Amino acid sequence: MSDGLEDVVAAHTVLSEVDGQAGRMVIRGRSLDDLAGRATYEDVVGLLFSGFYADLPADIRAALGRARAEVFAEVAALDTGLLDRSPVEAVRALLARLPDGDDAETAFRLLAAPAVFTAAVVRAQAGEAPVAPDPALRHSADTLRMLRGAHASKAEADALDTYLVTVSDHGLNASTFAARVVASTRAGLTSAVLAGISALKGPLHGGAPGPVIEMLDEIGEPANARAWIEAALDRGDRLMGFGHRIYRVRDPRADALKGAVRWLDARQGRLEFAEAVEAAALAILAERKPNRPLDTNVEFYTALLLEALQFPPSAFTCVFAMGRVAGWLAHAREQLAGGRLIRPQSVYVGPMPQKAA
Ligand code: ACO
Repeated sequence: MSDGLEDVVAAHTVLSEVDGQAGRMVIRGRSLDDLAGRATYEDVVGLLFSGFYADLPADIRAALGRARAEVFAEVAALDTGLLDRSPVEAVRALLARLPDGDDAETAFRLLAAPAVFTAAVVRAQAGEAPVAPDPALRHSADTLRMLRGAHASKAEADALDTYLVTVSDHGLNASTFAARVVASTRAGLTSAVLAGISALKGPLHGGAPGPVIEMLDEIGEPANARAWIEAALDRGDRLMGFGHRIYRVRDPRADALKGAVRWLDARQGRLEFAEAVEAAALAILAERKPNRPLDTNVEFYTALLLEALQFPPSAFTCVFAMGRVAGWLAHAREQLAGGRLIRPQSVYVGPMPQKAA
């Protein structure tokens, strides 16, 4: 067994498949190519939750809108202590205030909460008052409205939908595994989501896109890319937005998100610069690691897209949680339906007790 468990199958799932050799992914029988850019977040929630919640509301958009309005009350608990924390830590603390449970009502509160809490935390950290949800809007449009205090364009809401759909589920990634382990103890959905967001915040998982922006800003112009990247690798740093545990080819999510960046006209110059940095990074990684295929992962173009949508880089992981929470909740219910506690074994390699002399 390898230390990273990559050779271990820990669940059978009907939720998503990741084909790392072919660079393809499937969510509940639909290919990412088919969903990204066409489906709304509400559509993918319906797809993932179907069959896992007996009390699933027929009108998902309306239920999610009501849930946003309900969890907004928790924003009043944001105090200066929490606002000194990173956005993901502040959002996690607010999430922990929600009651545990296993039903659809609990699940919809948890689906709504990352969007409502992230918008409020970002605004409060900028000294601005929170904006209450508008339950009549679709989730993506209302999220941008709560963030900015003004309506977003249709192209921007569509771009955020593309992002949320693209990251909604992805096999047994680290945060989903963490959520399934907690769900298997029957601790409840809120506990499972807290485990998921805690695993997600690490820089090797969902914490990468913020540092992608730092990298692009430090590089500044295409001519500096090679020297900057060589120096980073010489220091032993990893390039954020490249490499993946499962994909041995290009992450298909990268192109779905790059397509969405193209809809946002003002971003074209930034996109061309990012493409130049990406090309330099891929060339250097191929020279340095000829035996380890390292390609662009989802986080590289996530960074460009979320920057274009005016989320601050410090909150990018929170936006990832807005999308992935659907997957955590579906996996938690699938784990509960299977019913078994996840409890692997370890091999003890420490010292044995000495006999008393
Ligand atoms: N930059 C430079 N070198 C890299 C990178 C990278 N981004 N990724 C892997 N490598 C190197 C490793 O240093 C290692 O080299 P070595 O054998 O000389 O020590 C080799 O490639 C293999 O790396 P592993 O650690 O086996 O790869 P693993 O499958 O464990 O890591 C991971 C996958 C964590 C995503 C890694 O590629 C990485 O750290 N990437 C940067 C962070 C990032 O973009 N994370 C987001 C991932 S996508 C997501 O979670 C949603």
